[in-house]
Amino acid sequence: MTGTAERIEDLRRRHGEAVHEADQRARIKQHAKGKLTARERIALLLDEDSFVELDEFAAHRGTSYAPGEPRPYGDGVVTGHGTVDGRPVCVFAQDFTVFGGSMGEVCGEKVLKVMDLAMRIGCPVVGINDSGGARIQEGVVSLAYYAELGRRNSLASGVIPQLSLIMGPCAGGAVYSPAITDFTVMVRGTAHMFVTGPEVVRSVTGQRTGAEELGGAQINSELSGNAHHLAEDEADAIDWARTLLGFLPSNNQDSLPDYEPAGDPGRAAELDALVPDEPHEAYDMRRVLELVLDEGDFLEVQPLFGRSMLCAFGRIDGRSVGVVANQPLHNAGTIDIDASEKAARFVRFCDAFNLPLLTFADVPGYLPGLEQERRGIIRRGAKLIYAYSEATVPKVTVVVRKAYGGGYAVMGSKHLGADVNLAWPTAEIAVMGASGAVSLLHRRELAEAAANGTEEAVRAKLVEEYRSTLATPYVAAERGYVDAVIRPSATRAQLSRALRLLANKRQEVPPKKHSTMPL
Ligand code: HXC
Repeated sequence: MTGTAERIEDLRRRHGEAVHEADQRARIKQHAKGKLTARERIALLLDEDSFVELDEFAAHRGTSYAPGEPRPYGDGVVTGHGTVDGRPVCVFAQDFTVFGGSMGEVCGEKVLKVMDLAMRIGCPVVGINDSGGARIQEGVVSLAYYAELGRRNSLASGVIPQLSLIMGPCAGGAVYSPAITDFTVMVRGTAHMFVTGPEVVRSVTGQRTGAEELGGAQINSELSGNAHHLAEDEADAIDWARTLLGFLPSNNQDSLPDYEPAGDPGRAAELDALVPDEPHEAYDMRRVLELVLDEGDFLEVQPLFGRSMLCAFGRIDGRSVGVVANQPLHNAGTIDIDASEKAARFVRFCDAFNLPLLTFADVPGYLPGLEQERRGIIRRGAKLIYAYSEATVPKVTVVVRKAYGGGYAVMGSKHLGADVNLAWPTAEIAVMGASGAVSLLHRRELAEAAANGTEEAVRAKLVEEYRSTLATPYVAAERGYVDAVIRPSATRAQLSRALRLLANKRQEVPPKKHSTMPL
């Protein structure tokens, strides 16, 4: 092989082996398990024909392998870059058909290289996980690369968006890289995440369990909160990731993506009748979001976890916003540990990437109870106060109905640094709800009424007095704690004005190495 033509032919043959033949073999194995190949996943994620592969000829160095062990091109991971909606994105996808997609020295070098590239050019990284974990043949070297990966994830945190799509096994220490990234998506049925698998659990603890129960997509979306979206299949997972990227800047210094400022949902009048007259009656806060955000459209994060709180990305006038809202349909919108941690993390993400925060409050307070106190609702509930206080992005709050006690304070109150606070006439801003307040304040009067059989009427009168004097938006409005009481149907227009006003907000923070938030 001496001439140019032969060398070009050799390149063609090597490329065929590295990409086409490898993918053909992978397709047979992966499709049989209901999974796509690494390259098929990347092709779905990126804009058509935009993928540029890096290191396709990389192969392990063979020093710790048995004699004759193959050295397949790629070493179990496909890496490179391309675009999503025309904007650059770096990607790595583990190839389960090569050494079980396990992490070794060369595979690790490839992943770190593409992450370093993403940091240099300031673009998001999407990692597609489908792996047996640390490459057994390479021992401590593979562990070193997991640690290196965790360090890269941590340094990149808050600089570039990081997404993990779990599309197969992700076990042992391998789970910690996705856990550090900003968003994790799991595919129903094929994705599993656990620190120790069912076999180890059984031998160490005697508990019998299966992979789905221990770390399936449903469990991780609903109970542990490790996953931010439960995807029905791989196409759904990738679609969610593409939609999410459409809301985000490429990095923490980039401007937000700009879309056509069209799309008023056009049904604002419905907001004027949305809050029920009966204070205990629930309504769906999602409807408020639909009626306020561009085209009635938003992308919810962790919809199955901490369900009394909604966290979502949407747009107003074509510009991305992060929305935090209580959900009266679930536990009347009370804030429990999961809801607090979910929202705190979301607020911090939005702040890191300069997305303005919109808060819709309808909250009776933190969830009372033995279980919540013992699990640390004080420390873990504090995270949300901390996150709001720390956030320097534009913060606009709308009190829709209840804003009682700690719930008032934490849900984007003026006192935590919100810039514009609005309230609907239906807002009830008070220390507690009418029924509890009346019982506490009028104990003696109610006891006397009970003795002469008039308790019900007396209680009703006192509740009505409380609701009309103390549980209104006007006490807060008198003090400037809310800037304006507005018609619900004017909400979108008011938010649009507030966000334009705050577009160039600047807020200095005292110099410090980093904060010491209650983790
Ligand atoms: C090398 C591996 C491998 C690994 C799988 N393979 N895992 N090779 N290192 N970690 C290879 C298998 O030998 C097999 O090769 C091929 O990949 C497919 O594996 P199967 O077992 O046939 O697949 P399946 O039946 O689908 O089972 C998938 C699995 C199982 C549940 C993931 O492979 C498994 O238990 N693997 C080991 C998981 C594990 O304990 N990893 C270490 C975790 S600790 P052939 O040639 O037969 O096709 C860890 C520490 C990280 O990761 C520390 C970070 C700080």
